[in-house]
Parts: sequence; structure tokens; C-alpha cells
Amino acid sequence: MNETNTMRAIIHEAFGAPDEVLRLAEVAIPTIGRDEVLVRVRATAVAKGDWLIATGLPYVARPSYGIRTPRHRIAGLEFAGVVEAIGDSVTRVTIGDEVVGWGNQALAERVAVPETQLAVKPADVGFEAAAALPVSGFAALQAVRDQGGVAAGDRVLILGASGGVGSFAVQIAKALGAEVTGVASTRNLDLVGELGADHVIDYTREHVDGHGQRYDVIIDIAGNRPLRQLRRVLRTDGTLVIVGGSGGPATMGFGRTIRATLLSPFVRQRLRALISKPNLADLETLIELAARGVLTPRVDAMYPLPEAAAAIELVGAGRSRGKTVVTV
Ligand SMILES: NC(=O)c1ccc[n+]([C@@H]2O[C@H](COP(=O)([O-])OP(=O)(O)OC[C@H]3O[C@@H](n4cnc5c(N)ncnc54)[C@H](OP(=O)(O)O)[C@@H]3O)[C@@H](O)[C@H]2O)c1
Repeated sequence: MNETNTMRAIIHEAFGAPDEVLRLAEVAIPTIGRDEVLVRVRATAVAKGDWLIATGLPYVARPSYGIRTPRHRIAGLEFAGVVEAIGDSVTRVTIGDEVVGWGNQALAERVAVPETQLAVKPADVGFEAAAALPVSGFAALQAVRDQGGVAAGDRVLILGASGGVGSFAVQIAKALGAEVTGVASTRNLDLVGELGADHVIDYTREHVDGHGQRYDVIIDIAGNRPLRQLRRVLRTDGTLVIVGGSGGPATMGFGRTIRATLLSPFVRQRLRALISKPNLADLETLIELAARGVLTPRVDAMYPLPEAAAAIELVGAGRSRGKTVVTV
């Protein structure tokens, strides 16, 4: 194959530990269909979802990842870069546009996606910050605005406030006019304050129910606390949104999510589980918030493409500060 038809990409051919199953390789540049855009990737962000796909966990998610081997040969879920080629029916972007979007196989020098999976990047938002927006931004926006229904004046508790999703959730809840309490460990309290939280709780020193406070909305992104503990600090007509969990390889904590969903119809509190859905309208909202400076991605770790597996190991550990980005 001619060298100009190839690119570097992070190949994913089996499920397992990221440093064992992800490797840099030279592969063919993807071809595009009529409604697709070829993007020269400048940065991609990684999150827990990339770790789950690499490892193939939880097993219940295998139908979407691939049953025995990964469905997608290249890793990666989101990107920012420059449009290099467009299909015949593409109208929303043109060659040379700087764009941000989501799509499989983004941990590579080029990615091909339908034009409905990207939008033009504001000039003053860098590639690294832009790449951090889609996946964690969708989860934060949909948890806070849609499932949580956060409104001005609401008291909102965010567990996991310092991570990829949490760092966006704090800023979005503040932008909606909420009074935000962020839960983090000691080393991340400063970050949660900088993101705009009105109050912080250090989970290594105190319980979330130690303040005698009751919240209108709880966004539970990390920590896997028992439902009854969360319900104790939720107002009787409040809303709990479960975003993340952890646990064994079969379900990774989905048991708690299922219990919450089954219990919800029988109690006044609304107990909801988030399944975030990528979509163009929300991408445009996130971009607009970033352009206005209302939402600032906190990129605290950056890795070059050959070290993508290390980046995915880092986010897999669940101790990230803000977002982790891979530069291409
Ligand atoms: N439902 C959905 O659609 C959806 C979408 C996206 C993500 N998720 C899930 O959401 C979860 C978080 O994702 P993420 O990308 O934000 O992860 P992340 O970047 O690793 O962030 C996790 C954060 O949680 C904090 N944390 C850990 N233990 C905690 C505890 N006991 N109490 C409070 N905070 C704690 C960590 O800070 P410290 O180091 O300070 O502990 C870290 O900053 C994952 O389980 C992911 O799979 C779900």
C-alpha cells in the first residue's frame, strides 16, 4: 500500500487490559460515503467508556462492543480536527473547517463520520478543549438539564464532581442557576471550587449526609453509594440521577441502577438512570456554552497518540481530574 494512503491509529483487536490490547499501527485511511466527512484528527479525549470498550466490560454490554472480538478495529469515540474531504451530499461543513464531533475509530490520524456527528469548532476553543466536549458533555448535559430538570435556585449535589463528567456537570448546573455542592477527595477540592461549586464535601473526611442538608437534585457520577444513603439526603419530591457505578465484571454496578428504576414508581422521589445519547443538538449546545466561556473543559492530562493505552488506563482507574486528552 502506498504510504500516503495510510495513517497511524490505535488498533483494538481483542478485549483485555488496555496496555495489552491497544497498539499503534499503520492502517488504511478510511474512505468516505456521500454523507460523510473525513477529518484530520488533532485531538481526541478518552473517558471511562474507552476503558470499558477496551476491556469488554461489563459483559452485559458485549452485544454493543462486539461479542468475542471488538466491533470496531480502531479505538476512540470523540475528536476535534480539520475537515480534509467531504462526500458529495455534505452541506454543513467544507474542506479546511475546524470541527468537533463524536464517532467510533477516532483514536487515529483520520476519522470518517456522517456530517450529522460533527459541528464547526469555535476559533477560540483549542483542539484539545474541543475534543473533550462531546462524550462527557453529553452525559453531564443530559443528566443535569434533562433527567435532573435542574432549575434556578435548586440545591444540587454532584458526586464525582472532579472527573470528566462531573467537571462539566458542576458548570452546567451553575449556568442553570443552581446552588451546587460538589463531592470530591481532598486533592480535588480546589478544582471543584474553581469549577464554580458553592460548597464542597471531602468524601475522605465526611459523609454526604453529614451536613443536614437535603437536595432537590442529586447527580451521582461516582462513588457507588447505597441508594438508601442517597435517598436520605434527597428531598421527598427530589430527583436522583445515577450516571455511573462500579462493581463486578458482569454488571459493573448496574444492579443499583436497576433497583432505583424499579423502586421509582412506588416512591415520591424520582430515581432515574442516565443512558446518555450523542446527538447534534446537544453537541451544538455544548459548543455554544464553550464559545461563551460558560463551559470550560478542564484538561488535566495529555498524552501523544502512541501512549493512548496509558491514557485509557488512567481514565479506567476512575480517579481522573477533569478530562484526559490524546493529541494526534
Ligand atoms: N450513564 C451514562 O450514560 C454515562 C455516560 C458517561 C459516563 N458514565 C459513567 O460515569 C462514571 C464517571 O465517568 P467520568 O468520565 O466522569 O469518570 P472520571 O473522569 O474518572 O471521574 C470520576 C471522578 O469521581 C471521583 N470519585 C471517585 N470516587 C468517589 C467517591 N467515592 N465519591 C465522590 N467522587 C469520587 C474521582 O475523584 P477522586 O480521585 O478525587 O476520588 C474522579 O474525579 C463512570 O462510571 C462512567 O462509566 C455514564
